[in-house]
Amino acid sequence: MNREDFPILKETVHGQPLVYLDNAATSQKPQQVLDAIVEAYSKWNSNIHRGVHHLSQVATAHHEEARKEIAAFINAREPEEIVFTKGTTDAINALAFSIGEWRKANGEWFISEGDEIIVSELEHHSNIVPWQMLCERKKAVLRHIPLREDLTLDLEAFKGLLNEKTKFISVAHVSNVLGTIQPIEEIIRLAHEKGVLVCIDGAQSVPHRKVDVQALDCDFMAFSGHKMYGPTGIGILYGKREWLEQLPPHEGGGEMIQHVRWSGTTYNTLPYKFEAGTPNFVGSYALHKAIEYMQSIGLEAIDNHERELTEYCEKQLVDLGCTVYGAGQPKAGVISFNIPNIHPFDIGTLLDQQGVAVRIGQHCAEPLMYAIGVPGTVRVSFGLYNDSKDVDRFIAALKRAQMMLL
Ligand SMILES: Cc1ncc(COP(=O)(O)O)c(C=O)c1O
Repeated sequence: MNREDFPILKETVHGQPLVYLDNAATSQKPQQVLDAIVEAYSKWNSNIHRGVHHLSQVATAHHEEARKEIAAFINAREPEEIVFTKGTTDAINALAFSIGEWRKANGEWFISEGDEIIVSELEHHSNIVPWQMLCERKKAVLRHIPLREDLTLDLEAFKGLLNEKTKFISVAHVSNVLGTIQPIEEIIRLAHEKGVLVCIDGAQSVPHRKVDVQALDCDFMAFSGHKMYGPTGIGILYGKREWLEQLPPHEGGGEMIQHVRWSGTTYNTLPYKFEAGTPNFVGSYALHKAIEYMQSIGLEAIDNHERELTEYCEKQLVDLGCTVYGAGQPKAGVISFNIPNIHPFDIGTLLDQQGVAVRIGQHCAEPLMYAIGVPGTVRVSFGLYNDSKDVDRFIAALKRAQMMLL
């Protein structure tokens, strides 16, 4: 699918044509996105929001246009609900910090000593550690939804975890290790029944399928531009206006203020309250182009294509005798596996020598590795440009690696 648009895919690695199957870590960029970055720096680079001169106005218009497009892409109610961040990690850290500093209208802390926050056992460290840090600061307690034996989330256990002390839940839409799609609709529904707010880590879902924040009714969502054909250093924190209005800013500086006096500072309106300092306006423009690129292909077409590839690949891995984690469950472009008695590092190295890029290790999800009982896995992850030939080359290379190692 549109392979020619991605210059890097013409590169060779160790003398072999590149097969790039590490898209969950970061995706490659189409020429349209690369051109956007060059265009921004060569035609209208200028700091935004603060200038009356032409270049500044052009740059500002592009940045705010990108915000509108991103809001429409995830069906946010309004652009003001889109906060630019550096990425998913930055977005979740910002949110966790603000939640910790949040005092409700009656003056009470939103999170007090003994309150509980829930994540799940399969989270990326980015959706665990910021909450652990918050809990440490506020003497709150971090709980997690456990996995069943088949590596699905135990929703019965989740229902048992929800109680009057539960204040916040943050869970991944798609596991970055297993590729499995989590029952977030059910989690959000159950949480809202108890008046608990929910953040969705969309890092591995937004790049692969249509995500509609209003249909999901999540309170917050975080995702990264670089995993969806955009540049590094730009990401999004979506939040419902009613919560963003109440949350305090997590950083101070230029842009986020209305007035600064020695007696104190008043904060800017949404979303600028959360965007201290010079924003990544080149990144937002390039991310806008990446979204236009994805839309030109169609989210449904991307989803179907990657699902077919994932099923095609998983079947062959199972036939080869690999242990596929979460085998048979619907996945969004990611598969993790091991070959019995072979260390993932050895497989990754031998695949690399044959030009095949996969990721090995614990994938920033140590608690999940611990639950599965392995030190790491081999992970293949697809993007819209991968095709069945990539899978065939990967499987052939894997067979060669297996022969050499067993
Ligand atoms: C599910 C999930 N959450 C969070 C992150 C962190 O994303 P970033 O490094 O872009 O901040 C990742 C990255 O792999 C991820 O897969």
